[in-house]
Amino acid sequence: MSLMPPSRERLAASEQALTSLPGYSNDTPTDKEFSVFDPSTEQRIATLRNMTAQEALVEVETAESEGRTWAKTTPRHRSDTLQNVYTVLMENQSRLAYVISREMGKPLGEALGEVQYAADYVRWYAEELLRPAGGYRDNPAGASTILTCRAPVGLTLLIAPWNFPMAMITRKIAPAIAAGCASLIKPAALTPLTTLLTVDLMEEAGVPRELMRVVTTIEPAAFSEAVLSDPRIRKLSFTGSTGVGSTLMSLAAKNIVKSSMELGGNAPFIVFDDADLERAVEGAMLAKLRNGGQSCVAANRFYVQDGIADAFIEAFTEKMSKVVTGNAITEGVGLGPVINQAAVDKLQHLVDDATAQGAELKTGGKKPAQSGYFFSPTVLDRVPAEANIANAEIFGPVAAISRFTTQEEVLWKANNTPFGLAGYVFTENLDRALNVADELETGLVGINNGIPSNPAAPFGGMKQSGLGREGSHEGLEEYQEVRYYNIARRHTD
Ligand code: SIN
Repeated sequence: MSLMPPSRERLAASEQALTSLPGYSNDTPTDKEFSVFDPSTEQRIATLRNMTAQEALVEVETAESEGRTWAKTTPRHRSDTLQNVYTVLMENQSRLAYVISREMGKPLGEALGEVQYAADYVRWYAEELLRPAGGYRDNPAGASTILTCRAPVGLTLLIAPWNFPMAMITRKIAPAIAAGCASLIKPAALTPLTTLLTVDLMEEAGVPRELMRVVTTIEPAAFSEAVLSDPRIRKLSFTGSTGVGSTLMSLAAKNIVKSSMELGGNAPFIVFDDADLERAVEGAMLAKLRNGGQSCVAANRFYVQDGIADAFIEAFTEKMSKVVTGNAITEGVGLGPVINQAAVDKLQHLVDDATAQGAELKTGGKKPAQSGYFFSPTVLDRVPAEANIANAEIFGPVAAISRFTTQEEVLWKANNTPFGLAGYVFTENLDRALNVADELETGLVGINNGIPSNPAAPFGGMKQSGLGREGSHEGLEEYQEVRYYNIARRHTD
């Protein structure tokens, strides 16, 4: 990411962003609390209340009542409020980035990129909600006129992941507010501080606090079961694993709750012989190392055509081996830690299994000798199809490369997975790029582009990668119901 980290002075001031959060404490947790840790240092940075399912239901009550008032506000008022939110978030970008880096481990420059990305969803929906969504249609029989319009869906339940603790919140809450809905928000227990700060700033910008109720809990199953049994919840938006998404869909089925699911990925990254080498390597670095590889759209399986494979792997390995790994708030660091010890263990297992099955380790392959949950940028070549890493969602800075000969062969491999979120194609041949993109069973395709995500684009997956879309006008429709009025017509003189 190209953004510069904040200056040292601003960084020091940012420490206050943590300690000034409401209810902040850094004490050892009681049995009604839980702690948040910095993955760069393994140190506790905050202790929060572990809210019970009963407390969550009180929040449902508050949000539902405020939502009825908000649903009646004018589009102009909601748009102006969201524009203010954009301004306030950007005025506080250093504080937000600092909190993201501390609790999630993303390097500061990249965390600033996340703040911009997150705020851009707010700005997009401030603009988009003013576009007319209704329509006028003639009844073909001539006896009536049909008007269509959109109504807010009602109270929404937003369950967010830890990997983009700000952007995944704004991608949900901005369209909810735009549509006229209140929200119950459950951030990941690993990264709740960014949500608390974001919501504070949104309140400062004019969004009623009652409209955005945050529940911090380490008992997600009890929480979801209680809340999704409450008929006042009319919409569920979840980002996380396919396993949890499937459980939530069963719970949502009880009250027929409209659901959108952004689930696991297994993105193929395909480099053809006719690709621009430099562009392909640049794209590979972004698609693999953005967020330390901890993204649902991260390049997960690299397929490189025989004629370019040696040159690509050499250049990519050189770049990967030069990335500086370290504490996310240290200047010059390009790769922070992964989220916790379990993630380090999983990566080590995948790498060891791959090399035991014949993959060639080009660089990295282990945890560097420093405290914190670090894993070195790793490149594996000639990964056999039977290795676990060829099928698992890696979620870390490990690139698993195999080689291919024909377009037909690579398309079969790329689509041979139950997942279908993102795919990447690198080629200078436009026909090939579009033909391959058409054949990939994924919701989004980066063509010569390592970061396809954008607030103006509909983000979401096919197959077991999800349901529905976030971002763009499709993302707003997820928080709306379509209604029509059928007006009878009688002939008059
Ligand atoms: C995700 O990893 O779930 C989101 C990534 C993105 O928005 O680009």
